[in-house]
Amino acid sequence: MLNIAVLVSGGGTNLEAIFKAMEDGRITDAKISVVISNNQQAYALERAKKRNVDAICVSPKSYETRQEFYVQLMEEIRSRKIDVIVLAGYLVQISSEMVDAFPMKILNIHPSLIPSFCGKGCYGIHVHENALERGVKITGATVHFVDGGTDTGPIILQKAVNVLPGDTPERLQKRVMEEAEWVILPEAIQLYVQGRLKVVDGQVIVEE
Ligand code: GRF
Repeated sequence: MLNIAVLVSGGGTNLEAIFKAMEDGRITDAKISVVISNNQQAYALERAKKRNVDAICVSPKSYETRQEFYVQLMEEIRSRKIDVIVLAGYLVQISSEMVDAFPMKILNIHPSLIPSFCGKGCYGIHVHENALERGVKITGATVHFVDGGTDTGPIILQKAVNVLPGDTPERLQKRVMEEAEWVILPEAIQLYVQGRLKVVDGQVIVEE
């Protein structure tokens, strides 16, 4: 049974999708041992508490230095013997120590088809604002392993979503979440749990 830590910052709809996938058997042999948010108000924490899952806030604002925050965050992870970390709408840069301690064991969901509309400052609703601004006809979501960069790790799964006439950033975000994020994040976690993700020369191979 793999122990998963899910790091969140907001509403937790991706977290909810993971819970639902575990409840209906699309994710097996894994459990969410802790949900950690940098934001005490994150509704994602409420979602975890409703399921009696450990839900804690570790905020950079509570520490004198960013390094002290990183140390505490790692302690919360290590003390629970976490096997894999999932960043589900987590808006804080994680430390290089965490990336080094969990090589190809940190998964992130990003609401675009990387390498489009990603990188520093391009997160959440801004991703969809940029996609509409550029006039793309297809967008989507990506699950990737986290390396030392921002949205730069090996890509695990992607799913395309049509941009429709009259789309606003909010409508597009909702469609990308419903049709892509909430589908591929649980799928990627199950592939990981089944040991079917291999990284060869920076490319992810999904083994049968
Ligand atoms: C959403 O914009 C999602 O695309 C991105 O993080 C934001 C919050 O998602 N991954 P959630 O509802 O907190 O999972």
